[in-house]
Amino acid sequence: MTITAPHEVFLQAFHAEHPAVTAEAFAGGRAPDGRSSYELLCDRVTGATRVLDLGCGDGLLLELLARTPGRELAGVDLSSHSLAPARSRPALSEATLEQGRAQELPFPDGGFDACVSHMALMLMSEIEQVAAEVARVLSPGGVLACVVGGGAVGGEAYERFLTLLRHTVEEAPAAQRIPALGDRRTRSREGLDEVLGPAGFAPVDWDSVPIDLSGPVEQVWAAVSGLYDLGPLDRATVEGLRQAFFAEVKDMTTSDGRVPCAFTIRLATTRLA
Ligand SMILES: C[S@@+](CC[C@H](N)C(=O)[O-])C[C@H]1O[C@@H](n2cnc3c(N)ncnc32)[C@H](O)[C@@H]1O
Repeated sequence: MTITAPHEVFLQAFHAEHPAVTAEAFAGGRAPDGRSSYELLCDRVTGATRVLDLGCGDGLLLELLARTPGRELAGVDLSSHSLAPARSRPALSEATLEQGRAQELPFPDGGFDACVSHMALMLMSEIEQVAAEVARVLSPGGVLACVVGGGAVGGEAYERFLTLLRHTVEEAPAAQRIPALGDRRTRSREGLDEVLGPAGFAPVDWDSVPIDLSGPVEQVWAAVSGLYDLGPLDRATVEGLRQAFFAEVKDMTTSDGRVPCAFTIRLATTRLA
């Protein structure tokens, strides 16, 4: 597989340094019902036996899916560095884990009952091609369930972090800015319908769920600073951002040392008509 598009070159380089960054940030996050965003996604494909994870990263979601006995699991990701920890998970010893692009899936037609994707669809270009590929590898009636990011909840640390980050990036040299990632349509219900409908999918079910990432300030910083935008920033700039963030959230820190932090996810589910 040869990667030439600048955004995919960037993603590969970023994940070479941070292979499991998303799971590290989000595995501990909790929806109002106490479940993680990964667990919420598993719930959307409970009846499926053959499941593909698109942009599977370090394999956390696949490991949760593997708790249901008898499943045939597969994952695909651009990054060999992210796939390495996935391949070393004992629960995934039988899973098929392929380095590849979602735009040209290395799987035969109709081989899956469901396709899941956690925080990855929103990064993909040529999104119509991705939709066509997912439709191709799903069997008739197959389910597509994905989590995409929805931004800050408001009035908490993530919102303040995003404001600080925006200023930092605006002031940074152009060479320290990330390339445009993904297709904005994946972040709205109408946009996803526009992309998925022509590939044969029914209108999506769409839920917004706040994910609580509150905790001690170091823990909250570790979660928010996993964003791609920080990747190209130089060390001094990241350190400046860290110090500004610690100062910014001081007034909202509770008496037991917790910083309130939340992130909205969108949970979209559809099936091949
Ligand atoms: C934010 S990470 C999420 C990883 C994992 N799904 C999780 O939530 O822990 C996005 C992942 O999607 C992968 N990715 C992005 N674009 C891709 C594409 N076109 N084809 C395959 N993988 C892709 C990246 O390499 C990265 O591992």
